[in-house]
Amino acid sequence: MDGNGRWAKKRLLPRVAGHAQGFERVRNIIEICLDRSIEYVTLFAFSSENWRRPQEEVSRLMGLFVMALESEVSRMHRNGVCLHVVGDLSRFDERLRDLIAEGEQRTRNNQRLTLTICANYGGRWDILNAVNNWRRDNPAAVEVDEQALAPYLSMSYAPEPDLFIRTGGEQRISNFLLWQLAYAELYFTDTLWPDFDAEKLDLAIASFRKRERRFGRTSEQLLER
Ligand code: IPE
Ligand code: MG
Repeated sequence: MDGNGRWAKKRLLPRVAGHAQGFERVRNIIEICLDRSIEYVTLFAFSSENWRRPQEEVSRLMGLFVMALESEVSRMHRNGVCLHVVGDLSRFDERLRDLIAEGEQRTRNNQRLTLTICANYGGRWDILNAVNNWRRDNPAAVEVDEQALAPYLSMSYAPEPDLFIRTGGEQRISNFLLWQLAYAELYFTDTLWPDFDAEKLDLAIASFRKRERRFGRTSEQLLER
């Protein structure tokens, strides 16, 4: 979700106003995904690199996160949303960590849509964390393979993403789900996150549907299957 700051700047508003609008857009996009029967949505809300932003902005983002959890978990629960927050949560304050734990606990049996918020997340962190935890469980083993490592990744409860969308014009992964995006279709749009509405989402989905996913096979092989 990129482009909140620029959205605000265009309107001569402070960056935090862009984040507030970005939060409104999150709410709206979740509703649209529910409507479109999308079963997994994963949002990159805060990267491990975002701590480098001005302290004022970081603390406003944390405040927004707390506010979002306080006000949205009930609605999510009513809508059948199962919430997960993944990332290194140890750096967040206790209030936020408690709210995350409560939200996850409360919505854990919901099955309509699995919503993952990546917070203080980094793809490299995820892989290293998985390797280290695997190591702890398998002290005598010498080598780990893909199948053995997969359950240790932070999103082991979800299938790998089909479609990756980055708003805001940059064409980078920026340390998002590095392992899990191996076969994802990548979609980049100049639309700023607060402007990413239903119509824009449908364009991304339409582009995804037109692509041929071969997973290393040839087109002819796909026809035979
Ligand atoms: C949102 O957009 C990203 C978050 C960390 C929430 P930005 O804050 O990166 O917006 P731009 O890139 O400055 O426009
Ligand atoms: Mg940005």
